[in-house]
Amino acid sequence: MALTAVKGFNDILPEESARWRHIEQTARRVFEQYGFGEIRVPVMEKTELFCRSIGDATDIVEKEMYTFVDKGENSVTLRPEGTAGVMRAFIEHKLYAQDPVARLYYMGPMFRYERPQKGRYRQFHQIGAELTGVTDPLADAQVLHMLTLFFREIGLSEPTLQINSLGCPDCRPAYRAALRSFLEERLGQLCDDCKRRSDTNPLRALDCKVPGCAEATIGAPSVLEHLCTGCHEHFTTVRHYLELSGTPYSINSRMVRGLDYYTRTTFEMVTGLLGSQSAVAAGGRYDGLISQLGGPAIPGIGFAMGVERVALLLGNQDFSTSPDLFIATMGQGERDLAFRLMDGLLKSGFRIEMDYEGKSLKSQMRRADKLKARYSVVIGENEVTGGSASFKRMNDGAKTETALTVDGIVLLLSTTEL
Ligand code: HAM
Repeated sequence: MALTAVKGFNDILPEESARWRHIEQTARRVFEQYGFGEIRVPVMEKTELFCRSIGDATDIVEKEMYTFVDKGENSVTLRPEGTAGVMRAFIEHKLYAQDPVARLYYMGPMFRYERPQKGRYRQFHQIGAELTGVTDPLADAQVLHMLTLFFREIGLSEPTLQINSLGCPDCRPAYRAALRSFLEERLGQLCDDCKRRSDTNPLRALDCKVPGCAEATIGAPSVLEHLCTGCHEHFTTVRHYLELSGTPYSINSRMVRGLDYYTRTTFEMVTGLLGSQSAVAAGGRYDGLISQLGGPAIPGIGFAMGVERVALLLGNQDFSTSPDLFIATMGQGERDLAFRLMDGLLKSGFRIEMDYEGKSLKSQMRRADKLKARYSVVIGENEVTGGSASFKRMNDGAKTETALTVDGIVLLLSTTEL
């Protein structure tokens, strides 16, 4: 039997990867405009890093990590997300010593052992950005503005931004206690997972997809009503700046993130177009993470988007490049000239195609159509003798007589189209 890829791991074929490149290039352009520089960190880290950052009582650490013992008896894990590794690198290389305000972005594969479905895979790709060193709500608003601009630049009106605040170590314990006692009276209605973690991680019940849990949590206490003065002011100012910059958002006080490191602002870019995988991008503030990992007390905020989900939203839009010119030839003698021209034009930076198999003229023209070539030309004996040929612009059939020289053709192909 032929071998296939591992379940939940996908090949990205050329047409799809053109869409991916468009997403990646747009992200690079927008992020770099905001002063972010790229960081590349390994796909594998010591397991302890994820336990200490994402949290032992999260689904990711409890159930979804690709963890194994390597030949040196070390427990290592394929990264389930990017923030932990980036912050590990930030601390390890003392990037904060040059400037605690670092703006870093990254892209690459992440791994979570989840049940695969549309928009959810075991190897998936994130593009993320992290900004450290600023507690001011201005940083939150700027990161959200950048994310919103990315989606606008890529041409998507979906998804929309939802924000929340999860408070801080000062006010969250009281909120957890309030939620815990609310859930205690409804334990019978909760799913097994939510029941089990109602003590360690009661917030998860708020975004559990099981209908019984959704029902049981109607009327649950809102985190926003339990914020301390500092967190409340911070959240109000984030909203103020979002409004000032014209960034549309709505508040979702039931938004709970699946990672433990968040403090204060959290957010998701959500869509109704991808079924249950509604979050296209998500993130938040993590003011305690860097010190928790052994670094100095420096705050941070960031997000990551799922590239597969952004690509799904872009649908079938074609971003693949097509040839500038297809050269069709009638006989062996003309093929020598065509080959020389093709070589010169490739060196000038144009994408050129010709027939390699001595196919009929009709089938060569079919191929020019299929490849969506911008121009085509047929070179026969007359053209070789006369030194020029009629170049056809494929989208409207307009013909231009042009010398069969590299310079002549370069001039034609460089002319901006009407
Ligand atoms: P996250 O919400 O776990 O956050 O993931 C961010 C995004 O990655 C999701 O919104 C989704 O688009 C995509 N994603 C997650 N899991 C899968 C999957 N199995 N298949 C396809 N796409 C998926 C984080 O990872 C945080 N590190 C984000 C962050 C950065 N927070 C602060 N800085």
